[in-house]
Amino acid sequence: MCGIVGYIGHREAFPIIIKGLKRLEYRGYDSAGIMLFDGESMKVSKTKGKVSDLEEKSKEISANGSIGMGHTRWATHGVPNDVNSHPHVSNSGELAIIHNGIIENYEPLKKELMKRGYVFKSDTDTEVLINLIEDVQKKDKLKLGKAVQIALNQVVGAYAICVFDTKKPDEIVVARLGSPLAIGIGEDEFFIASDASPFIEYTSNAIYLEDEEMAIVRRNKSIKVRKIKDDSLVDPYVQELQMNLEQIEKGGYEHFMLKEIYEQPNVIKDTYRGRLLANKGIIQMAGIEDNLEKFLNAERIIIVACGTSWHAGLVAEYIFEEFARIPVEVEYASEFRYRNPIIGPKDVVIAISQSGETADTLAAIKLAKERGAFVFGVCNVVGSSISRETHAGAYTHAGPEIGVASTKAFTTQITILTLISLRLAKAKGTLSNSDFHRYLQELEVIPEKVQEALQTNDIAKTIAEIYKDAPNCLYLGRGYNFPVALEGALKLKEISYIHAEGYPAAEMKHGPIALIDEKMPVVVIAPKQGHYDKVVSNIQEIKSRSGKIIAVVTKGDTQVRDLADHVIEIPDTIEALTPLLTTIPLQLLSYHIAVFRGCNVDQPRNLAKSVTVE
Ligand code: F6R
Repeated sequence: MCGIVGYIGHREAFPIIIKGLKRLEYRGYDSAGIMLFDGESMKVSKTKGKVSDLEEKSKEISANGSIGMGHTRWATHGVPNDVNSHPHVSNSGELAIIHNGIIENYEPLKKELMKRGYVFKSDTDTEVLINLIEDVQKKDKLKLGKAVQIALNQVVGAYAICVFDTKKPDEIVVARLGSPLAIGIGEDEFFIASDASPFIEYTSNAIYLEDEEMAIVRRNKSIKVRKIKDDSLVDPYVQELQMNLEQIEKGGYEHFMLKEIYEQPNVIKDTYRGRLLANKGIIQMAGIEDNLEKFLNAERIIIVACGTSWHAGLVAEYIFEEFARIPVEVEYASEFRYRNPIIGPKDVVIAISQSGETADTLAAIKLAKERGAFVFGVCNVVGSSISRETHAGAYTHAGPEIGVASTKAFTTQITILTLISLRLAKAKGTLSNSDFHRYLQELEVIPEKVQEALQTNDIAKTIAEIYKDAPNCLYLGRGYNFPVALEGALKLKEISYIHAEGYPAAEMKHGPIALIDEKMPVVVIAPKQGHYDKVVSNIQEIKSRSGKIIAVVTKGDTQVRDLADHVIEIPDTIEALTPLLTTIPLQLLSYHIAVFRGCNVDQPRNLAKSVTVE
């Protein structure tokens, strides 16, 4: 993710940039940096930590300059530290850049630049980009805008960038592809930012750059927007901002949780970007490739995690066993660590954690390592304790998850675990070629289907209003959707404080059926794949005891529609990927119930985003 802010005008840039970065801190907060030009030279200050740490550290440069840019980072390439923080400065010391996004082909570009004598201080893709721009500029003695344009035509990936050149100290070149970038137009001043929140009190006029557009923002001049590919001029649309500050910080959503639910199509794509090459039939992840033998020789995989991450582990158990035919055990990290588990060098442990800081998961990893197991981490937060403690790993790239109830972390964890199991299946030959390719193709269209599943928002809201006062709720699912039932129940209880339980549908007869009466809502996950007929029988059992049935079904289903009180339709997909779709309406249902009940959705009582104590 990352947040970027730039300013050119007549005011002191420092306070505007710092305040703007604080507003963008939800986008990433592992490090921050600022560049100011004081009329003679560029002053750069950067630090690991929050924007407040940067503010403190930058006091001596803060007084100078009415042009500058700042960055708050959510690390993708390179751990969060001072050196990897933005801005990055080119080898000559003349150019500086801030960047939100990922340059996927940075490695070959870096090698080429190194051959040409460039040296790199950081591990970032961004430092490669600024030196590429410099190289292009120097080779043909180009103006900055042209050099940026030529360089961007050589990169693959996503970016929103601001580039500054000390030789042209009254302009900032900006460009976007895949990451947001807004230009606020004030009276003789311009603001640049990832969203409008940093400048909402200065102007309500803004241009939102479209993908593959760039602009040169010059002091006291009108803005020219061009297409990066063919240099053609674009007539920019100046939008009048309607939003207030509060809304903008949440990207226009009422809560971070809802925003994060809606981010899922994009973040699932971010998770597999560069890793899934469906047309070539390739899945590649450095952490797996480098340790392939360990996985292939594993006698079993043990997954350790807590909460929602544990639920993702349960989904993974089904996937790994079906695709890669490796036995899997899924453990609560808190139980595993105190259980004297039988574990040794032939075991692979996968630790799943959004925050990468969960104390029990961390302790489970240490124990597994002590006993000789190979430990692989699946984390969202780059540079977190778990990502450092594990032998190898893969990041989910879901971006910062601010809502305490985990949503996009869950679906991206399932995505990455699916990729891993498919990669192992390919190596082991446990899937036919045609099935392997079918799964890859389907994974590639899953973000569109998740987008379609988000259209269940209205029906989820309607159902939420009906059941908002229910004291209890049951969630039932089978196979791949049993863990989704657990996750649906967890979401409901943690944000609405309604008591909810998830069960494998067939277990209902062994006890929970006693709870069913006309007041009990039962959410049944019944996609047409898997054990559909058996789930239909379970639905009949609930109906004959007057329970209220809310069924999540595949689009076009008629059988369950005849039995259920409410149906929520999701798109069709292959069975193993149904959790990525069935989860969506359950998140929305919990969200709306919590809102109707007046609960604090983003910060539910008694919970914390990362549980660093046991
Ligand atoms: C539920 C939730 C928690 C976390 C759990 C593990 O919505 O957020 O159950 O999943 O605390 O946290 P991580 O994944 O950070 O280890």
